[in-house]
Amino acid sequence: MSSAREDHVTFYDAVGGEEAFVRLVRRFYEGVADDPVLRPLYPEEDLGPAEERLRLFLIQYWGGPRTYTERRGHPRLRMRHTPFRIGARERDHWLAHMRAAIDDLVLPESLDQRLWEYMVYAAHSMVNVPEESGQAAQVVDPTSISVRGAGTAAEGEGGGAGEDDDGDEPIRVSLK
Ligand code: HEM
Repeated sequence: MSSAREDHVTFYDAVGGEEAFVRLVRRFYEGVADDPVLRPLYPEEDLGPAEERLRLFLIQYWGGPRTYTERRGHPRLRMRHTPFRIGARERDHWLAHMRAAIDDLVLPESLDQRLWEYMVYAAHSMVNVPEESGQAAQVVDPTSISVRGAGTAAEGEGGGAGEDDDGDEPIRVSLK
């Protein structure tokens, strides 16, 4: 159970332990507090408890004490975010505050990069509404719907989208 072997420094230790995560998450929530897109998503008036949860999660994730799970159980982060509408806009605001918070830590480049790449990946995985602001199905008139081809929003993901079908042409479904 000893995680502090001399030849193995956790990322948590390398960035400066608890103090670094306190600073990181405090700075992040200072940004959220003034953000008109993100602030309304947070159910509690006091952002303090949310700040603590994110801090404990990140500390645990990066190899520090496992207090998060002791208090909250398994993280299941995607599931815990489903009550909140998170689209590309929310994700990008979240990431902008996180970028500013990481900048403030002034870490060695390799640590900065690792932390940032994780945040970018994690934030993308938290998105729970379709790209392009939920316009996948458009009601054209009350008796038919028009569905955009699947290829348009899939840029770079999964590969092989598009094929020979001209996916851009809407598929018209008559409801008559
Ligand atoms: C992509 C944009 C994101 C938005 C808009 C967002 C928003 C929220 C909101 C509104 C809450 C509820 C506040 C609370 O009561 O705790 C929350 C909780 C939380 N978020 Fe996010 N989040 C995002 C991404 C992330 C990412 C990338 C992580 C991890 C790296 C994360 C980790 C957490 C954690 C640990 C909690 C507390 C979970 C719990 O124990 O209940 N979030 N988030």
